[in-house]
Amino acid sequence: MSFNNVTIAIAKGRILEGAQNLWRKSGLPWPVDNDSRQLWFAPQKERPGMLIARARDIPTLVGMGIADLGIVGLDILEEYPNTHVLQVADLSFAHCRVVLAGQKNQWPEGPTRIATKYQRIAQTYFSVHRHPVEMVPLSGSLELAPVIGLAPYIVDIVDTGNTLRQHHLTEIATILESSARLIANASHWRTKPELAQVRQVLQSE
Ligand code: PRP
Repeated sequence: MSFNNVTIAIAKGRILEGAQNLWRKSGLPWPVDNDSRQLWFAPQKERPGMLIARARDIPTLVGMGIADLGIVGLDILEEYPNTHVLQVADLSFAHCRVVLAGQKNQWPEGPTRIATKYQRIAQTYFSVHRHPVEMVPLSGSLELAPVIGLAPYIVDIVDTGNTLRQHHLTEIATILESSARLIANASHWRTKPELAQVRQVLQSE
């Protein structure tokens, strides 16, 4: 099997850490040096090319066919959907939840503000519940919002729950259970049989 013709885009952060484990278990060489800033690794016979990018950019890179495959959380796929992308496997790592959290374990009464980097997921959730909300878009450090009076509620990722606890916040509802997904460019998936071979290798451990 040769991987010369395959490129995979991997999200920075927790997904990249989990992917390193997966590569090790699958017997694929891992080219990324954690101390280096290198973001692109050309394909070789024994492993696909690798492109390391911001999580929210992975659906775009795969959708445009810059990468054939991608590894990214379901949270990102729900927030940044791309019609040219297929989800081809649940890789069962980087498990986390998108939750509604606040200072008390109590659903908002009446219209409220929600600080979040998941505006689409949060808006859909509150629309389904027919609850009026105003989104406060933030790109990180969301737990600050209730503490500084910016918004009483947040919609954010929870993994261990440590960050919520440290800010005296409580989970009120789980909106989405997420894990790392293998995605593929839809037309490349049909025309490049090597992509299914990569899936098989990554699922073989
Ligand atoms: C996420 C999230 C929380 C934290 C939750 O941020 O926004 O801050 O992780 O994890 P915990 O439940 O284990 O404490 P992340 O570290 O992914 O960084 P980001 O804010 O840059 O996305």
